Amino acid sequence: MSKASKRPFRSHILLRLSGYLLRYWPLFLCAVCLTFLSNQLDLLGPRYSGEAIDAISNPSGVQFDAVWQNIAKMLVCYLASAALSYLLAVLMIRLGQKIVYTMRRELFEKLTSLPVGYFDTHATGDIVSRISYDIDTVNASLSQDLVQVMTSVYTVLGSLIFMWQISPPLILVFVVTVPVSILFTRFRAKKVRPLFHKRSQKLGELNGYAEEMLPGCRTIQAYHREEEMGRRFNEHNTDAMNAYYNAEYYGATLGPSVNFITNLSIALIMTFGGALYLYSQNGTVAKGSIFFLTLGGVAQFVQYARKFSGPINEFANILNEFQSAFSAAERVFRIIDETPEPPDAPDAVSLQSVKGSVSVEHVSFGYNDSKEILHDVSFSASPGETIAIVGPTGAGKTTIINLLMRFYDCSSGRITVDQTDIRNIKRGSLRQAYTMVLQDTWLFHGTILENIRYGRENATDEEVKQAAHAARIDTFIDQLPDGYQTILSDGGVNLSKGQRQLITIARAMLSDAPMLILDEATSNVDSRTEVQIQEAMGELRKGRTSFIIAHRLSTIQNADCILVLKDGRILERGTHDDLMRQNGFYRSLYDSQFL
Ligand SMILES: Nc1ncnc2c1ncn2[C@@H]1O[C@H](COP(=O)(O)OP(=O)(O)OP(=O)(O)O)[C@@H](O)[C@H]1O
Ligand SMILES: [Mg+2]
Repeated sequence: MSKASKRPFRSHILLRLSGYLLRYWPLFLCAVCLTFLSNQLDLLGPRYSGEAIDAISNPSGVQFDAVWQNIAKMLVCYLASAALSYLLAVLMIRLGQKIVYTMRRELFEKLTSLPVGYFDTHATGDIVSRISYDIDTVNASLSQDLVQVMTSVYTVLGSLIFMWQISPPLILVFVVTVPVSILFTRFRAKKVRPLFHKRSQKLGELNGYAEEMLPGCRTIQAYHREEEMGRRFNEHNTDAMNAYYNAEYYGATLGPSVNFITNLSIALIMTFGGALYLYSQNGTVAKGSIFFLTLGGVAQFVQYARKFSGPINEFANILNEFQSAFSAAERVFRIIDETPEPPDAPDAVSLQSVKGSVSVEHVSFGYNDSKEILHDVSFSASPGETIAIVGPTGAGKTTIINLLMRFYDCSSGRITVDQTDIRNIKRGSLRQAYTMVLQDTWLFHGTILENIRYGRENATDEEVKQAAHAARIDTFIDQLPDGYQTILSDGGVNLSKGQRQLITIARAMLSDAPMLILDEATSNVDSRTEVQIQEAMGELRKGRTSFIIAHRLSTIQNADCILVLKDGRILERGTHDDLMRQNGFYRSLYDSQFL
């Protein structure tokens, strides 16, 4: 992205972020008022301390009443300012949390409405880091940096006004120190920004490497690649450490340099302020002249000078943090701005009492424009029929299922359910008409009972158990110490692949959808269980239009129609007996499995 096109985008991000703040405008308004109030009180402190000093060094003797009064006022100001900034901090944390909550909700809602294809091209890890890390970065910036900016602006202007009131000539000292400090911070920002960028990038690479390797640790051990893996990890680790060091090194030079510049201005103020005080004292400078300065005036001025220098020196730092918050917000908004699944056509209908006749007519489809996967595929299923799809790996079987469920739209041809084009059916209603067991089992963190009940929310415990029985997983569940209440951790890693698949079958059994899709549903179970499940499946298929994908041809012999798919084309079709008689590709597949 060029610099020119970057700018408007940044202000656009700023506007959107402000939009979030304004949504909670009462809180935000309170925060602004609190900031100004607490800073104003803080700024009054030095004035009272100065007046106390003047009361002490009064030529006509110490004025005790005035001293105590000023000290009391000063204390009250500082205490009140501290209390208000405490309130402000609490308020900003609240405000930040509300914004984070809203952003996360918006982001997640968008994620659930995105077409399935989005996840083909975006890494899950990256999306997760946007939900957690990036939103947190935005939050930190909103709840801390924003207050800091408001505070800084107020303090700088306020101190300047106070200093002007005390001694305008002394302000000239800043003509020397402010440019030095601005030059320094600019130099530093230029140097440091790329270093910080590199630090995050290297850390990201390290994380990416670890994330890629950990799930593969079994394979790595099996191939004895631990050493190689360790070596490559060390390379990433060293890079990350060096990048971290470089960034922090320049970061560390900041503190001492800022201190030096501040001290320099204090020293200059003391020198010139001291001189003005002496001249005022011995009468060279008359009272009422702009050069007139009391001891308390010098003391006040020094305190305001400190307040004034701080934010100026920190300015580059805050800018940096805003930069990182902006990039994070940009990553979040990118997802929020993705086009969701196109809405249902305005005249789209809901399916009522589906009979279950499905017809696929001259369908062609590719996941991307460059490669067509399905070529002119046509077939149809009458209500209650079982269609089996077989064929080599990569032939396009799962792709057909994706089109039936309308996870993707076909590029040409059409698919109808009960004679209605599925593009004219509400997606929710179409998907509800199917129950499916997919190639990738999906279980979530929760009890077995909850995982099975996912098929039908209002199923009773008894119905869940019957489904488990039908899927031949009940004996196994009963043997577990916690039975149906056993918690499945992290996608069911505490179960075998076959057991996981049986649970998803039980889940499908519960659903009362009129159509059924089984994608390699029995690929991970042993042959004896498979036969048992076949029987249960027979039950499941009764009265339902079913689409069954299987590699093991034994499981689909009794299908009403078998489609033999190869390279995205239907090569042969017919019943098992027809196809065996044809002596074609199906026959050779069959023979290779059973002879
Ligand atoms: N999300 C995707 N994006 C791009 N190409 C894809 C995607 N999913 C599948 N493909 C490609 O589409 C082709 C068909 O894949 P599909 O998953 O339909 O095969 P399959 O017949 O189900 O194979 P298997 O028996 O191994 O499950 C493959 O060449 C695959 O590379
Ligand atoms: Mg598949």
